[in-house]
Amino acid sequence: MTTLVYGAYGYTGELIVEEARDRGLDIVVAGRNGTKTRGLATMVGADARVFDTDDAADHLDGVDALLNCAGPFARTYEPLVEACLDTETHYLDITGEFEVFEALAERDREAEKAGICLLPGAGFDVVPTDCLAGHLHERLPDATELRLGFDALSAVSGGTVASALEHASGGGKVRRDGRIVDVPVASAERTIDFGRGPRHAVTIPWGDVSTAYYTTGIENIEVYTPMPEGVARLLRVTAPAMGVLGVGPIKRGLQALARGLFDGPTEQQRGSDRAYVWGEATNGEETVVSRLETPEPYTLTVDAATTALSRFEDGTAPPGYHTPASAFDPNFVLELDDIEGFVDE
Ligand SMILES: NC(=O)c1ccc[n+]([C@@H]2O[C@H](COP(=O)([O-])OP(=O)(O)OC[C@H]3O[C@@H](n4cnc5c(N)ncnc54)[C@H](OP(=O)(O)O)[C@@H]3O)[C@@H](O)[C@H]2O)c1
Repeated sequence: MTTLVYGAYGYTGELIVEEARDRGLDIVVAGRNGTKTRGLATMVGADARVFDTDDAADHLDGVDALLNCAGPFARTYEPLVEACLDTETHYLDITGEFEVFEALAERDREAEKAGICLLPGAGFDVVPTDCLAGHLHERLPDATELRLGFDALSAVSGGTVASALEHASGGGKVRRDGRIVDVPVASAERTIDFGRGPRHAVTIPWGDVSTAYYTTGIENIEVYTPMPEGVARLLRVTAPAMGVLGVGPIKRGLQALARGLFDGPTEQQRGSDRAYVWGEATNGEETVVSRLETPEPYTLTVDAATTALSRFEDGTAPPGYHTPASAFDPNFVLELDDIEGFVDE
């Protein structure tokens, strides 16, 4: 199986390309910048293809799967997915942007017809939380409410900050009665032990608000992350001003700034930092809680995306739109390095 990695010379793309090469996967390196794409291709001993996302369909000859690492994904997924549907090429990405998940879920039938798998979210967003959601659903099949969360204090890349800024003016999101609804930023708060003691946590508009519904069918979903009470209060007060981030030139300017300021975690941080994932499902009478401790988010992303490609190579690429846990199963996350297992309460 040949996989084309688009956005290959970005911080995360390059780590994935190197890992895929080390695992013996057949990779083509791709991106819009010719010099950077060819430079990386030479470094890893792979072929290079240089093209803009709009021209993708002309560059997927002999390619079985496209792994999109070019974020913000709201700006790249559409032409790449169109090209994958046209050329019957599997599509994977490492997005955490719930608009992208929702848009791809709507292409389910077309993907099934084309015989391809659409698998967004094959990174830290959303593999561990999605697999935990599937695991909780297996423990309590009639659950009606699901709360997920992660505690992952880690350095971030410029691309990650640019992707967060892309959606920063959108406010909060939760799922209620099956529908994604707008709520104020950090609208719900509670104390959660993600795995290293109680922390004050607030709701965030995370990808699982979309994906956990497709994995479990549970219609009420919230996602939490730790935030000190004072910061949460400040965020709520300043939320109306965040609308300014929706203004194109301001947003683009801050995104360019972010790319220069944030380098991503160092090799040492990627090797030593840990992340803590928590989930709770309830049917109103019974509540189950599970946790998962994982490697640093970028390390997990590289492992998860590469392992997903290996699973596709083994023939596990179910047609249609899929979340990680629905494409494989909730134990998929346990195949990744340095994860011991679900801890159930
Ligand atoms: N799932 C997860 O947990 C997870 C983990 C890591 C990263 N991510 C996401 O992955 C994305 C990339 O992160 P990163 O750290 O690799 O960022 P990065 O270093 O900024 O790399 C981004 C890459 O995407 C390309 N790109 C961006 N916009 C493009 C466009 N419109 N057309 C063509 N290419 C485009 C860039 O090329 P140019 O330099 O030519 O613009 C670059 O190659 C971000 O959205 C980030 O949030 C997710």
